[in-house]
Amino acid sequence: MVKLKNKTEVALLRAGGALLAQIMAAVAERVRTAVRTDVSTAELNELAEKLIAQVGGEPSFKGYRAAWSEGVYPAALCVSLNNEVVHGLPSPDRLIKNGDLVGLDCGLKYRGYFTDMALTVPVGQVGQAELKLLRTTQEALMRGIEQIAPGKKISDIAKAIQKQAEKNNFSVVRQLVGHGVGYQAHEDPQVPNYWDKTFPDLELRPGLVLAIEPMFNLGAWPVEEQADGWTIVTKDNSISAHFEHTVAVTEKGYEILTMPL
Ligand code: MF3
Ligand code: CO
Repeated sequence: MVKLKNKTEVALLRAGGALLAQIMAAVAERVRTAVRTDVSTAELNELAEKLIAQVGGEPSFKGYRAAWSEGVYPAALCVSLNNEVVHGLPSPDRLIKNGDLVGLDCGLKYRGYFTDMALTVPVGQVGQAELKLLRTTQEALMRGIEQIAPGKKISDIAKAIQKQAEKNNFSVVRQLVGHGVGYQAHEDPQVPNYWDKTFPDLELRPGLVLAIEPMFNLGAWPVEEQADGWTIVTKDNSISAHFEHTVAVTEKGYEILTMPL
């Protein structure tokens, strides 16, 4: 069931989203200096956990019981490197190295309300094609968000994102979707990043809060789960990128909630 948030609730989501954006900026900055200082993906998670505790929030991924996996997610942060698409498990044995693309994804519960954000950070010298993949995925997120207004539909968001991928010859991951967010980490509706006319569509209304999260691959779209039960990788081992914002539908259009205030 799709649940709309009132203005007071959106204000709380704005406060949490701003904190999450600041935390992600700090973690991303740590990634950028990782090669010089030998940072493991577990240390990135520890930084995220420390910053979340400092602002008085809770990590919404930690302890998360996902429909698709046994057990609970053990960390605050997902760190997905290169051919890993999403849900990479932080590990002390994995060091960030020159040329890596580092996907960071984090959910924050703040004063009872959930926001969700992701970005992919290039480390050191990264190839032109990889940089273009990052730029295009981030642009696609913005083109999707710009569609948002009362009366528009989920399909308008999906089509705008898909168009950006296809224009640049990248593929859209199909097995994973964006989602409603706010009262929980994941709510209805689903927000696909491509459109098929058999999908259930929904008209956008003020108070609807969505996590929009395109995942694009340099190669083909199929992905698969690794033996750890969490990490999703591209089947052809090509590089992948992921960007995500939590966005509210407003009377006039939209407001990105995961923005530093
Ligand atoms: N990254 C997913 C999203 O943005 C959620 C992952 S939940 C986890 O919707 F707990 F599995 F990490
Ligand atoms: Co999400």
